[in-house]
Amino acid sequence: MKDFKKITDFIKGLFPGFEKIPLHAPIFNGNEKKYVIETIDSTYVSSVGSFVNRFEEMMCEITGAKYAIAIVNGTSALHLSMILAGVEDKDEVLSQSLTFIATCNAISYLNATPVFIDIDKDTLGMSPNSLLNFLEQYAEKKNDGFTYNKQTGKRIKVCIPMHSFGFPCRIDEISKICKQYNIVLIEDAAESIGSYYQEVHTGLFGLMGTFSFNGNKTVTCGGGGAIITNDAEIARKAKHLSTQAKVSHPWSFIHDEIGFNYRMPNINAALACAQLEQLNLFVESKRILAKQYAQLFDQNNLQYVKEINGAKANFWLNTLILESSEERDLFLEFTNSNGVMSRPVWNLMHTLPMFENCFKIDLSNSIWIADRLVNIPSSVRW
Ligand SMILES: Cc1ncc(COP(=O)(O)O)c(C=O)c1O
Repeated sequence: MKDFKKITDFIKGLFPGFEKIPLHAPIFNGNEKKYVIETIDSTYVSSVGSFVNRFEEMMCEITGAKYAIAIVNGTSALHLSMILAGVEDKDEVLSQSLTFIATCNAISYLNATPVFIDIDKDTLGMSPNSLLNFLEQYAEKKNDGFTYNKQTGKRIKVCIPMHSFGFPCRIDEISKICKQYNIVLIEDAAESIGSYYQEVHTGLFGLMGTFSFNGNKTVTCGGGGAIITNDAEIARKAKHLSTQAKVSHPWSFIHDEIGFNYRMPNINAALACAQLEQLNLFVESKRILAKQYAQLFDQNNLQYVKEINGAKANFWLNTLILESSEERDLFLEFTNSNGVMSRPVWNLMHTLPMFENCFKIDLSNSIWIADRLVNIPSSVRW
């Protein structure tokens, strides 16, 4: 059994002055107040305003994307991106069982169903081998150019890998496989702002990438999201659909299709811009913390998640892999009752009542990881 007291004391030393050390607390030490007050003074607190536009420009600068569209949250960004990718009623979307519920909820909003592909144990993201195994075993390309699941007869329109806790998955390999099968790739990069794979920002390997700026993320604006893309037409449609499909006109209310109220409000964008200005500092601080954790874990023979070759992770949440579910539960019990917050991973999607009948292949890695994983405090330190 591991020395949980030693780990807990070490974490307390990293985060002095807390009664209970949170998993991830936001930090507002930059221009947040200034920009929010500016927004209130301007009265442009809603979906039109200079900060929304600035946020989109900043997202392009940071990620290298040609286009970024400000969205109200990450779940809506996923929903909209799947509409733009052409997901229709009864389609299948390739996803992970080890993900946050939002990915599968967004798939369900379109009456599509997730298919669960396994993860790699080292990245915690979709495994290209598992993806290929699934496609070779169960998929066929038909004359219409699309790939179908031979077992269910359903069209497989989109694949949504997720960069878990900010660790980039093998997205280049996944991208190649998707191209081979004419499956649209959308990256759920909700957790991976500031994470790169082969020096390309996560979210840029497929047609679209989506982000979340929820309160628990590396960069937060309370609630917020974004879609990034290099495709001009997708970007135009994303902006149009996210703003109630309103046609620009000086006074008339013209709407040319069914749209959504999905644009990020200017007051949230004000917060987001101030936070994005500090992204490099945030990631730097998190990478220093990850190194400190690594030293302790290496000295004590503890298994933890590292970035793979070619990846630069933002280390949104540092992740320990314990020996068994029993040890995980003892760790959770000990740390949480001794002033250090820790959490297990989400319950696997294929075990939830809404998704238990969805098509899945061998998920041994997901199950193995879910039994052993804990996230430990990872906030930016100032
Ligand atoms: C992997 C993943 N996808 C989607 C979301 C949804 O984002 P939001 O909470 O902004 O709707 C989150 C986080 O909340 C997430 O972690």
